[in-house]
Amino acid sequence: MCAMQKNTTPCYYGEYLHLDKFLDSQHPVSGQYQENEAHDELLFIIVHQAYELWFKQILHELNSILKDFEKPNLTANSYGRIIQRLDRIHGIQKLLNQQISILETMTPLDFLDFRDYLVPASGFQSIQFKEIEILLGLKMAYRINFDKKSFYNRLNDTDREHLMELEEQPSLFDRLQDWLERMPFLEKENFSFLDAYKEAVDNMLKSDLEIVNNNDYLSEEDKAFQKKDLEKTHSHFDALFNNEKYAKLTEEGHFRMSQRSLLGAVFINLYRDEPAFQQPFQLLEKLVDIDEEFTQWRYRHTVMVHRMIGAKIGTGGSSGHDYLRQTTQNNRFFKDLFNISTFLIPRSSLPELPEHLSDSMGLKSE
Ligand code: HEM
Repeated sequence: MCAMQKNTTPCYYGEYLHLDKFLDSQHPVSGQYQENEAHDELLFIIVHQAYELWFKQILHELNSILKDFEKPNLTANSYGRIIQRLDRIHGIQKLLNQQISILETMTPLDFLDFRDYLVPASGFQSIQFKEIEILLGLKMAYRINFDKKSFYNRLNDTDREHLMELEEQPSLFDRLQDWLERMPFLEKENFSFLDAYKEAVDNMLKSDLEIVNNNDYLSEEDKAFQKKDLEKTHSHFDALFNNEKYAKLTEEGHFRMSQRSLLGAVFINLYRDEPAFQQPFQLLEKLVDIDEEFTQWRYRHTVMVHRMIGAKIGTGGSSGHDYLRQTTQNNRFFKDLFNISTFLIPRSSLPELPEHLSDSMGLKSE
């Protein structure tokens, strides 16, 4: 590592932060069209700009995480870096969620003082937001229909081409999947993990069925309904071990991750107390945190939009809060990681791990 040089020119706060440009970048448009500028337009601009700044930081972290994931094996050092940066993204997201309540101090009537001047601009055109989505793994094929077509039509050519190029790059979802697939532990000789695991989950699901059957508070109709749900869970679980069934369920949208990577994630979750799996587990947990926080932001934004514009359409031409509600439900990144909790079994039922697993995980220091 080279020694750090001393600074040669004195640093001045305002110059270093380019505050001249930065604080001269808020220009409400309402003053151009009406006698008095709408008081709340400044808040609207500042909140959006603050979002965009934090998006820039999130992208900075995401790009460095993707770079670490390019390596064929993650070392203990890169795990540490990735987890710390994912945690930073999560911290920023929490702040972004809180900012919504500041914007909500603007009433719908105050918003109407300048809303019409914004047409047809819209959050749709936040390229950094879309970059974050794409880099995390929300590519076109996984978006809701309106998002697949109409959204791209609302961008200028440069932005559209830029996002289309990004779609071609491996996302964090792709990298995660490769990493999980590379884990060799599922195939160790004399290791009966899959058999023991399958038996334990089968028993757990059977006992759930008994609970439903013996629950006197449930009507026959309720029981039939719950049993149907259990059957579905069972067939999803069976698919984890059956390539054809897995492929069919993936086509129907029940899984997104490959079968092997999903099993890898299940394995890490089950053995997370082992030293070799603590960092991989933390990594998966951070991704779950980020997905959850994103979903919470979408929901908060949807409810705020409902409050601000009721059932009106958006300035970007979507159906407004109804469109946003659908994206909250659908536009997820790591849903498979949430769903595996269905198949977790108690620690007491876990088969013993064979030795030297940490070696095969490549968990060595740099
Ligand atoms: C008065 C406040 C706000 C209103 C009424 C509002 C309204 C809307 C509406 C209706 C849409 C759907 C697209 C459309 O038809 O325009 C949308 C999308 C969006 N808005 Fe907002 N918004 C507000 C504040 C914000 C803020 C503070 C941000 C922060 C960056 C933001 C970011 C976005 C993003 C990223 C989308 C695209 C979401 C997606 O396509 O999944 N919005 N907004």
